[in-house]
Amino acid sequence: MKTYKLGVVGDPISHSLSPKIHNLFAKRANIQIEYHGYHVLPNELDNFIRDFFDDGGDGLNITLPHKINCLQSADEFSPIVKKIGAANTLTRLTNTDKIFADSTDGMGLIKGLREARINEIMSDILILGAGGAAQSIIHDLQNMHPRVIAIANRTKEKVKPLVERFPSLDLDVLHPNTQVVDIATYISEWDFQGFHTLINATSAKEERDFKWCDLLPIEGVTNFYDLSYSKLGKTTPFVKWAKSQDIGATRKIVRDGFEMLIHQAALSFEVWTGIKPDTQITKAELFDE
Ligand code: ATR
Repeated sequence: MKTYKLGVVGDPISHSLSPKIHNLFAKRANIQIEYHGYHVLPNELDNFIRDFFDDGGDGLNITLPHKINCLQSADEFSPIVKKIGAANTLTRLTNTDKIFADSTDGMGLIKGLREARINEIMSDILILGAGGAAQSIIHDLQNMHPRVIAIANRTKEKVKPLVERFPSLDLDVLHPNTQVVDIATYISEWDFQGFHTLINATSAKEERDFKWCDLLPIEGVTNFYDLSYSKLGKTTPFVKWAKSQDIGATRKIVRDGFEMLIHQAALSFEVWTGIKPDTQITKAELFDE
């Protein structure tokens, strides 16, 4: 039986749950993998990736801070990578030995939202944050055809260049044309109808950081989704803040990004092995303490 040679590259890497997740996938799928976390510094990245694949590597996950720079080592790029300029999955193509770069973060999020039964992804979405995490999800959200994806960021000047990366899609009449807009433009110049879903794509760590959210127009938001996740028994600052928001009697859904983490990993696993793994994984299975 083939043993797939896989891994994840980051700086730092010790916190990564990817080795555990992929080993669980492989065990349940009854296939052999060798999946390790590799601590690679930015100036060693290109050599590391080339050596890994030259030595028979099948696939690599790429995590912070290498998601953009890893593209220098790739030969071919998926349409989404071309659009967002970042990747989290590198694969050696078996027929050509070329390195193919893909991004599974956005589809991982869509699957995470569905699993959380957040069905209103067709309506207006507000994303907090304008960094790499926001950039990696907008394309796939746009393909779900919400009416609007608005972006709010602490540093306002960062929103415009991000929004400009995602012009309206050229769609057929059956699908509404999703606009990606700066929240300020949306509120002042558009038919603002409130948001249903709020996605946290900031890297803010401390609870006090979220005071600025109080200034956002979140009246009407019923779905709160954090791209960050917490350990078993802990809560992310965003989730804690979201849970404390009184939205009246309406059904409220608050989730952290744990399911997204599992789904983006599952999509990588599928790219490498052709097998859709069992994604029913709990935090208790991944966190020891
Ligand atoms: P990532 O790749 O994880 O998105 P990033 O590119 O450094 O990381 O972006 C982090 C995002 O979190 C940015 O939108 C950042 O806002 P700024 O552009 O103003 O820096 C946001 N962020 C980080 N700490 C924050 C805080 N305490 N409050 C609000 N936003 C914060």
